[in-house]
Amino acid sequence: MQILVLGSAAGGGFPQWNCNCEMCSGVRSQRIRARPRSQSSIAVSRNGVDWALINASPDIRQQLLANPALQPARQKRDTGVRAVVLMDSQIDHTTGLLTLRENQEPLQLYCTAMVHQDLTTGFPVIDMLQHYCGVEWHEIDLDAAKFSVRAVDGIGFRAVPLSSKAPPYSPHRNDPHPGDNIGLLMEDMETGKTAFYAPGLAAVSEDLVPYMASADCLLVDGTCWTNDEMPQRGVGAKLSLDMGHLPQSGDGGMIEQLRRFDRQRKILIHINNTNPILEEDSTARARLDAVGIEVAWDGMTLEL
Ligand code: MLT
Ligand code: MN
Ligand code: ZN
Repeated sequence: MQILVLGSAAGGGFPQWNCNCEMCSGVRSQRIRARPRSQSSIAVSRNGVDWALINASPDIRQQLLANPALQPARQKRDTGVRAVVLMDSQIDHTTGLLTLRENQEPLQLYCTAMVHQDLTTGFPVIDMLQHYCGVEWHEIDLDAAKFSVRAVDGIGFRAVPLSSKAPPYSPHRNDPHPGDNIGLLMEDMETGKTAFYAPGLAAVSEDLVPYMASADCLLVDGTCWTNDEMPQRGVGAKLSLDMGHLPQSGDGGMIEQLRRFDRQRKILIHINNTNPILEEDSTARARLDAVGIEVAWDGMTLEL
């Protein structure tokens, strides 16, 4: 199984278009050693030709250009993206669907009933796409042991409901339901190797632990280093936990949570532009290095 990291930043990307925080201005002026990053998405394939896009980022056009494996060019109009799997209905994970409107056949879209509801009400992108390529919806059943994605053979997917939040435009923003937000366990059916992907994770709850313990690789929420990082940098009042993202440092933070998974390769992804780990020479980054936690970057590839 091949995993391509298309975008490793959280909503807004790095640098964010209107942000002059120390990190965004630092990377823009090259004052700090850091890689720019696009918004949250990965692609997964077994044969390297037929790919499932996991989340469709607003930066998808640039991401496809940067990853020629996703554009095999076998005929006049062609794509390696055979299906899209969504983990939630957030802007940074869904607005790329609009860019896929020229698809030659209906988009094969895999998401939960809750996400489908948001994308036909608060942000009706599915309804809009019916006027272009059309959408064939495959409901992700939270009770199913495993599901497969059409044309992406040899990979078993399992959805794991997570505690997080529906987006502000969701009709049930303040009334959480299972399926608002999922993690994905992806298994190579031949090698048996698995990866657990959860770019939005508010807590590592006990019911999640067996899934994470069974995985060979953990690609998890790296949004913020501290809960009050955004106010600390003077860029608004949003707190990490209020947004559904467990910070890395501090008591009970992600670093501490990941300590119990000693066999796994551990990678942080969906990193907010305020997070000091984006700076390669930061003390925060050194702390991650010391405990064997990696930081995802655009173009990172994983073979499992
Ligand atoms: C999040 O992960 O909390 C959202 O994507 C933030 C956003 O896009 O504004
Ligand atoms: Mn996000
Ligand atoms: Zn910034």
